[in-house]
Amino acid sequence: MDDHRLSLAPMVDWTDRHFRYLVRQISQRVRLYTEMTVDQAVLKGPRERLLFFRKEEHPIALQLAGSDPRTLAEAAQIGEAYGYDEINLNLGCPSEKAQEAGFGACLLSDPLRVAEILRAMVGAVGVPVSVKMRLGLEGQETYPELAQKVERFAEAGVGVFIVHARSALLRLSTKKNREIPPLKHEWVHRLKGDFPHLTFVTNGGVRTLEEALFHLRRVDGVMMGRAVYEDPMVLAEADRRVFGLAHRPKTRLEVARAMRAYLEEEASRGTPPWAVLRHLLTLFRGRPRGRLWRRLLSEGRSLRALEQALALLEEVEEEGEEEEKGPKGDAEGPLFLAREGV
Ligand SMILES: Cc1cc2nc3c(=O)[nH]c(=O)nc-3n(C[C@H](O)[C@H](O)[C@H](O)COP(=O)(O)O)c2cc1C
Repeated sequence: MDDHRLSLAPMVDWTDRHFRYLVRQISQRVRLYTEMTVDQAVLKGPRERLLFFRKEEHPIALQLAGSDPRTLAEAAQIGEAYGYDEINLNLGCPSEKAQEAGFGACLLSDPLRVAEILRAMVGAVGVPVSVKMRLGLEGQETYPELAQKVERFAEAGVGVFIVHARSALLRLSTKKNREIPPLKHEWVHRLKGDFPHLTFVTNGGVRTLEEALFHLRRVDGVMMGRAVYEDPMVLAEADRRVFGLAHRPKTRLEVARAMRAYLEEEASRGTPPWAVLRHLLTLFRGRPRGRLWRRLLSEGRSLRALEQALALLEEVEEEGEEEEKGPKGDAEGPLFLAREGV
């Protein structure tokens, strides 16, 4: 349950339980992270709606945000009771709201406070507590300062460090903060060399499994965010290539069929179909009728629309199979001749 080789990044509004379920249809092993959830919301808000997840989602981590050791420890305990495999503390969110409330990336300016928070969380739960942090603040960070923070947080009981390998520039928007500060994955590689007993996961700008495998030769794990949301099938080969499992990956259509069954079940429990469908729009990105698929789902927004779109894509698959088979039963046909170099 503590395999961090590949994980889905926490992304507010994107990695809700429906998207995570979709990703789980594509990879049985990738580690899932929830959206950032503020501790006070866990304590006082609609808890079941915020924390509920399906057992299929394991391994899954709850990402918390906050700045008060007591309330964060309490929220962590509630998360553990819900069955989360890991509790993660957000030390990377640069938004104005986070700064006003004193959580996220701005906490990196006060490592002693972070250590106090982490000690409280670690003391409150039995599952591992991890952090997701930036390299530092305002581009002012140095590697020795980063290493010192890691040491402090490790002393507080944290063994897993997810590092979004860029600085947080607090005057920039969150979006720009994911694009402008330069990536320095080599700092995370170096951390692994300096603290071999700790687990390091690097994050930021990883678009393909090839890139993930490159980092995996240097660190314990890679976390991918936007690339997965933009095309979830980027993880199709993850179980085989990253986790060494032998099973055949599901095709796009098989994933879509699994999501049809899921939507039917969810709709019968009162989930609005669009809450699920909105995450399926990119499933056939770049494929024949991929745009039609997208349009049918966004216009129809219903189980029936999904069924219609699925039927159209199934037709494409049948046609595709015919094409792949080539000339039938004809060993003397053009393909045979070409193969023999005639
Ligand atoms: C829409 C969106 C929402 C995000 N929300 C969170 C969040 O809730 N918690 C967090 O730690 N990072 C959040 N992030 C940052 C990602 O987890 C990740 O660190 C960042 O996108 C870089 O990884 P990537 O290049 O693979 O996307 C968010 C990113 C996006 C695009």
